Amino acid sequence: MKKINFASDNYAGVHPEVMQAIWSANEGPSIAYGGDAITAAAIQQFKHHLGNHAETFFVFNGTGANVSALCAMTQSHEAVICAEKAHIQVDECGAPEKIAGCKLLLVPAIHGKITAEGIQSQLQRIGDQHHVQARVISISQSTEYGTVYTLDELRKLSAFAKAHNLYLHMDGARLANAAVSLQTDLKTIVEAAGVDVLSFGGTKNGMMMGEAVVFLNPLLAKSFLYIRKQNMQLASKMRFISAQFQALLSNNLWLNNARHANAMAQHMAQGLKKIKSIQITQPVDANAIFAIMPTALIEKLHTRYHFHIWDEHLSEVRLMTSFDTRIEEIDDFIRDAAQ
Ligand SMILES: Cc1ncc(COP(=O)(O)O)c(C=O)c1O
Repeated sequence: MKKINFASDNYAGVHPEVMQAIWSANEGPSIAYGGDAITAAAIQQFKHHLGNHAETFFVFNGTGANVSALCAMTQSHEAVICAEKAHIQVDECGAPEKIAGCKLLLVPAIHGKITAEGIQSQLQRIGDQHHVQARVISISQSTEYGTVYTLDELRKLSAFAKAHNLYLHMDGARLANAAVSLQTDLKTIVEAAGVDVLSFGGTKNGMMMGEAVVFLNPLLAKSFLYIRKQNMQLASKMRFISAQFQALLSNNLWLNNARHANAMAQHMAQGLKKIKSIQITQPVDANAIFAIMPTALIEKLHTRYHFHIWDEHLSEVRLMTSFDTRIEEIDDFIRDAAQ
């Protein structure tokens, strides 16, 4: 029997409207490397959602988006401040250090979120030629723990960044889920945080592949055409990535997909809360649930469901929902867990 997916939104398939867009883009030849009409239209869509000044570049994946963004934001003696469990720190195999060539300065996070106070502790020896110079704050919205920074928290981080002459990078692999959670639009979030460069996710929200690096600070975009190529993130048949974004950003598909994923996470959380031996460990703001469960229960559930053990020592698991999660799958999981 095929296992049911609560492992990751990356396990999900491709949304039919996205697949249709890829199919429709396949009409004969078209200019390569982003010179095509579909790419131009998709770039316009980003302007519509994030403001006319937004400069967008499509890339293959999230790691490529983050690392290329950091390349554009730092020099080799500069550092990026991020949460100790940020994707760029724990899940990118050292690519920021190798490719962007910059040091990551880690800040403890509560439920995946960092604060100005935490960041302050890493702001040391500014102007000292012996010491790496902090240049960027990188945050994930939503976070790796399925939590979402409030607009107020983002405004505080933005004010801090500006006061200390730091750029702000947002890993928005799941920005759509954050927007649903905050009941607001993408632009409001990005403006609240004073984002300079955004990695915007498509893959986790119904695309086959592709992410976007969006510059809200156009000065930083100056060399990005070359950085993207050097980082091997320039797609020759770019129209097939662009077409997916066009579909995602039209007709509120991005919103509806994320809305569904978040609603499924809420349904899961409500069900799990009723089971005494299960303890939810993080606020469920977006599309992930973190929970401590008895090891024997994890083993049993693993025979029918895919999900990740997040922390072996704590017996903490991560359950993730996506645009294609079905409510019956969750009900089955809750029933099996309760039994
Ligand atoms: C917070 C976050 N950022 C970025 C990514 C993108 O990574 P990838 O390179 O696998 O597309 C992920 C994927 O899991 C993620 O969770």
